[in-house]
Amino acid sequence: MTYSVALIGTGSEPDQPNRDGYAMAYHHAAGYEKQAGCELVACADIVPENARAFADEFGLSDDAIFEDYAEMLSTVKPDMVSVCVPPKVHASITVDCIRSGVVDAVHCEKPMAETYAGAKLMTQEAARHGVQLTFNHQRRFSDAIRTAKELLDAGEIGALERVEFSAPVGIFDYGSHSFDLCNYFNDEVPAAWVLGQIDYSEENVLFGTHNENQAVVHWEYENGVHGIGTSDSTGTGGPADAIACHNRLVGSEGVIEVGPDGEELPPLRIRRDGEGWETVETDDGLHGWAFIDRAIAENARCLQTGETPELCASNALNATELIFAAWESARQRGRIDLPLEIDDNPLQSMLDAGELSPEPSGEN
Ligand SMILES: NC(=O)c1ccc[n+]([C@@H]2O[C@H](COP(=O)([O-])OP(=O)(O)OC[C@H]3O[C@@H](n4cnc5c(N)ncnc54)[C@H](O)[C@@H]3O)[C@@H](O)[C@H]2O)c1
Repeated sequence: MTYSVALIGTGSEPDQPNRDGYAMAYHHAAGYEKQAGCELVACADIVPENARAFADEFGLSDDAIFEDYAEMLSTVKPDMVSVCVPPKVHASITVDCIRSGVVDAVHCEKPMAETYAGAKLMTQEAARHGVQLTFNHQRRFSDAIRTAKELLDAGEIGALERVEFSAPVGIFDYGSHSFDLCNYFNDEVPAAWVLGQIDYSEENVLFGTHNENQAVVHWEYENGVHGIGTSDSTGTGGPADAIACHNRLVGSEGVIEVGPDGEELPPLRIRRDGEGWETVETDDGLHGWAFIDRAIAENARCLQTGETPELCASNALNATELIFAAWESARQRGRIDLPLEIDDNPLQSMLDAGELSPEPSGEN
């Protein structure tokens, strides 16, 4: 069985990633190329030269290049589609792919969608149409993260009591990964409530969407495990310095740190009660394009077997609920009990209402 694969939103600068463009489609395409059962057949981008350069790189012919993704779907009828456009159009394009009736699987970039309604609609439509929908929270496939989870599950730090993270550029953009990993460590148990506060004084627009400058978020899962997450996009540390670790797992008998701050520190370490820190060897660190290869391999395998993929929409929705609940808590100036009952993007709504007025940064 060979799956035909198309990509929507090719990007233009895979060798020069910056805060507005990583050309993630190139990394997805490289992942599909490594899969024996997948064949790249088409690409679409509203910027024709972007699509052309991508097609040249991956050996696609002229009739495989489209400006209009809807025309591509009806002409090529791909089995699998990767959606690598900015978050603002994740929901509309993904839902169009799902409703096209020709696509069996969609792998969309994170963060899920610019509004909570968009994220819920994508999840609902995928289920309704029997389409496998996944989101590229590829860090779950890092060996450091996997090994941390294995140590936790083996009882090496006792019972999990708290998960923590610090995110460098915002709880929406980077934090989508951070919340997702917290949920992964806590076995996808839903959260019960979220309490959050943000500072947004200077514009911080990433991939076309606003992110706060600093945030502190506290939440509790239904199994009593607590979460504490922080963000800082200012480079001054702030709340992120208090956590000073990409992900920390605090147990009843010890602590595991993934990506502790500090140049000399390893990607993964453990401290059992009464002992000092011990480095845990891992095959890779926290970042790497190989994680996308592994995510795509798992997606293709699950499409064939009917298993639920690790990066499934319901897992992504759990992380997305925490992001928007944190911003909703800032808007309501109070604790938000879940499930979250909003449809909008509270940060954007606060901007639209003039409740937040960040200084233009000059960068965006
Ligand atoms: N998983 C990760 O770690 C990671 C890292 C970086 C970026 N991202 C995410 O990947 C997504 C894409 O980011 P990128 O860095 O690849 O951006 P990019 O700007 O490099 O590429 C996006 C492409 O989408 C195209 N596009 C925009 N609207 C379109 C439409 N309506 N139809 C067709 N094409 C359209 C643009 O012309 C552009 O070529 C974003 O959601 C971003 O947050 C994820």
